[in-house]
Amino acid sequence: MNYMMKIKGGSTLNGTVKAQGAKNAALPIMAASLLIKGGTLKLNRVPGLKDISTMADLLRHLGVKIEFAKNAMSLQVPEDLGWETPSDLVRKMRASSLVLGPLLARCGKAVLPLPGGCSIGSRPIDLHLKGLARMGAEIELIHGSVHAKAKGLRGGRIYLDFPSVGATENLLMAAVFAKGETLLENAAREPEIGNLIDVLNSMGGKISEKSSGEILIEGVEELHGVESWIIPDRIEASTYLLAGVITKGTITVEDVNISHVDALLAKLEEMAVPFSCRERSVTVFPCEKPHAVSLKTLPFPGFPTDLQPQVMAAMTLAEGTSIIQESVFESRFRHVSELNKMGSSIDVQGNTAIIKGVRELVGADVHATDLRAGAALILAGLAAHDVTNVFNIGHVYRGYEDIQTKLQSLGGNVDISQSEKTYPKVNDI
Ligand code: UD1
Repeated sequence: MNYMMKIKGGSTLNGTVKAQGAKNAALPIMAASLLIKGGTLKLNRVPGLKDISTMADLLRHLGVKIEFAKNAMSLQVPEDLGWETPSDLVRKMRASSLVLGPLLARCGKAVLPLPGGCSIGSRPIDLHLKGLARMGAEIELIHGSVHAKAKGLRGGRIYLDFPSVGATENLLMAAVFAKGETLLENAAREPEIGNLIDVLNSMGGKISEKSSGEILIEGVEELHGVESWIIPDRIEASTYLLAGVITKGTITVEDVNISHVDALLAKLEEMAVPFSCRERSVTVFPCEKPHAVSLKTLPFPGFPTDLQPQVMAAMTLAEGTSIIQESVFESRFRHVSELNKMGSSIDVQGNTAIIKGVRELVGADVHATDLRAGAALILAGLAAHDVTNVFNIGHVYRGYEDIQTKLQSLGGNVDISQSEKTYPKVNDI
């Protein structure tokens, strides 16, 4: 069954919300549990999201016993693990590919159906496979599945052609038991990778960031269970700050790691939106007409692609013309046609969107094509006159815990209900 969010726009949102745990940190760290041979990984601040349940189901299929309540997760890993992953779960979520490295390291073999087509451009896992092959894995593609085996991986120097987040995570997990040292060069530097490294080190790993983009992994014999924490979700936190910007309200987001949201804060300054930061919280204050800003999405510490649609939504009502370049994913502009249905003036040329600020947005029936596109449409709906129905809202549950309750607590007039409308099924980020 499909769900839709009905938004009666026009109210100013005010109040305080707490950031959830980072989805993109929790997923690889859950996969890292596979590296423990007979032991338990306990994680706190795990967000209750659809993607988290998909990863939990995948790990359960491999033999891990998982309990999850009130954002605390316990993953009890047996001595013997399964190593074949089922296509129905893997095709639900690209992040399923994160079990490949740990399974190879732990079991010496793994079978992973290739993650299916994706709504934000073609997203191969060639860098993951190339890196694993450099470490000595034999990899074959048989009937659309990756069959990988290795009689013990070996360290070495691996240069990533692009600082892929998933490839960095997969390779550093694979390298934990590799013989000798592995040096990952041009590795991704997203904060979620720092969280994964910290958890692996607390489990007995020997991983250090040599310099920016260089990760050194010294092979160890085994990892043990621990209790640890997931970092706050910088994308979710930033989305609520932008809800303040677009509805001209005062919103505080607590439990934020300020250095993780720097790219947004720099843009808020350019927009002339007043804000203040405390040790672990950020507050945005009302701004009648934010200035237009231009940006290009880049790997961290650049502006996050996962926040591009939401900032674009805010810029539809800015003073002047904004230019947004998407350099991380192709086809990540599917929210544009939907925003334009609401009265925005956005023109896309290749990977560049030109957004001319308009006086107002009007409610419309729109549909979410992926997680962050859905978040952008919700922001636009909150600011628009009249009612906006965002169909296919299920995508948003992949990344936003309790979004309806959180928006309502800020004064947003939002309601979720079932909808008869169906849209073609696409995989999401
Ligand atoms: C992760 C995030 C996602 C975020 C993205 C970029 C998770 C679970 N998801 O996705 O929310 O939008 O980082 O910050 O953490 N690429 C290749 N070959 C590869 C790997 C990637 O060509 O082997 C390309 C992709 O097609 C894409 C770009 O590199 O164009 C970035 O992908 P990557 O950094 O790997 O993102 P994900 O790990 O999939």
